[in-house]
Amino acid sequence: MSLVQVLSVASEVFPLVKTGGLADVVGALPAALAAEGVRVRTLVPGYPAVLAGIAVSARHALGPVFGGPATLVTGTAAGLDLLVLDAPHLYARDGGPYAGPDGRDWPDNAFRFAALALVAADIATGGWADWRPDLVHAHDWQAGLLPAYLHYRGAGSPPSVMTVHNLAFAGKFQPELIRLLGLPDAAMQPDGVEFFGALSMLKAGLRFADRITTVSPGYAAEIVTAEFGMGFDGLLRARGAALCGILNGIDTAEWNPATDRYLEAPFSAGLWQARARNKAALQVLLGLAVDAEAPLFCVVSRLSWQKGLDLLLAALPELLAQGAQLAVLGAGENVLEAGFRAQALAHPGRIGCVIGYNEALAHQMQAGADALLVPSRFEPCGLTQLYALRYGAIPVVARVGGLGDTVIDANPMALGAGVATGVQFAAPSTVLLEGAIARAVVLYRDRPVWRRMQINAMASDVSWRGPARSYAGLYRAMLA
Ligand code: ADP
Ligand code: GLC
Repeated sequence: MSLVQVLSVASEVFPLVKTGGLADVVGALPAALAAEGVRVRTLVPGYPAVLAGIAVSARHALGPVFGGPATLVTGTAAGLDLLVLDAPHLYARDGGPYAGPDGRDWPDNAFRFAALALVAADIATGGWADWRPDLVHAHDWQAGLLPAYLHYRGAGSPPSVMTVHNLAFAGKFQPELIRLLGLPDAAMQPDGVEFFGALSMLKAGLRFADRITTVSPGYAAEIVTAEFGMGFDGLLRARGAALCGILNGIDTAEWNPATDRYLEAPFSAGLWQARARNKAALQVLLGLAVDAEAPLFCVVSRLSWQKGLDLLLAALPELLAQGAQLAVLGAGENVLEAGFRAQALAHPGRIGCVIGYNEALAHQMQAGADALLVPSRFEPCGLTQLYALRYGAIPVVARVGGLGDTVIDANPMALGAGVATGVQFAAPSTVLLEGAIARAVVLYRDRPVWRRMQINAMASDVSWRGPARSYAGLYRAMLA
């Protein structure tokens, strides 16, 4: 089996910079691919947190990139082989990867992420003497121009894979930027990067990549329909032969309830008393009544329309009527933050919320809650339900995308066969969410059934092993 060399290109990577599941995937897949004979080097922007977090091995001056000097820094962090684009005029600023401290997108995002794709294209076409990949793998719109740059360079370009983590982020910019970004005017047309009058970096990737993957088979089937295609469905149908879904895995070392450094009491399946200590600790942390018997639901999520948490706000009277508690960890849209804050104030001891981003608490929620709620309107894969499975928090999920692919609903058939791992409902509906919550509470109160579900959940294979094999197979097929 010959070694395959891959340049992975992304805008976030755990543990250095993370706003969501993209970082987890980009951070965990390389180690799993190494076991499949694939060497991955990951190119990311040189945000301050990235430059501060890597052990540098070398620096290579690049020519100017979009009006400022740039350096390619090589190094490692958390076992990752990183290539960092250090371009201070683009990345050396306080704030998030996409937006400033005021929450507004950085005005020069087109150039910030085009630079990433452009330098990747240079590396991929032999512009860096030290190393050249066999294949490039671009993640989401931030890397979407890479396949387009390679297309227009033509001969000598390696094949490219574009992975869609979320079609809702199209990476749209003014069409006038086309030339400034180094693409020909001819690219600004429907059969190029044009998307309803805008220049879309995601469209560039979807149009020009040799293969397109997305992060679950369910989402792969949904995005060719008008309902979930978000305007890209026509293109995706036309490219159907190049499209496939490969389910995400999780980093089972980082997310291991038996060794988790963030937990009050590490545990494994069957050690329910240890698990109960995490529940009590979580109840204390969130200001909830310490009550071993009350079913404790939790949410760990970006607070956005996608996640359907407005439906959960509407379903809270029913959740409370069931005698349940709710713990929320999330940040995002103001109305949702305010909504959960207000509910916590109105129902002290029953509803608790922490607004903000907190990695430790995310682990503690999975270990302490009885169930995790994911009422998403759409969900390309979803990682929190995978963490929940591994931690024995029963996922209660909308039957969309990767959620439908990863949770086995506790219907009478599955319960009879002893294989259920969670509860599903048809999205998006407050009434059906209420029904799912009620159903989960009934199951919870039947302790042997609940324990069986927890054991099944914790035994689910949520590792990267299978998915990594699929990616490696895809790469090899492309290079054959
Ligand atoms: P998405 O990428 O759409 O946000 P995923 O379920 O794929 O959804 O991934 C979300 C990731 O972000 C998970 O690792 C989850 O634990 C984490 N996360 C989301 N919100 C928070 C938060 N407020 N604090 C800590 N981690 C969070
Ligand atoms: C996106 C999706 C999420 C997926 C993650 C990682 O953020 O919203 O469903 O799990 O990417 O692929």
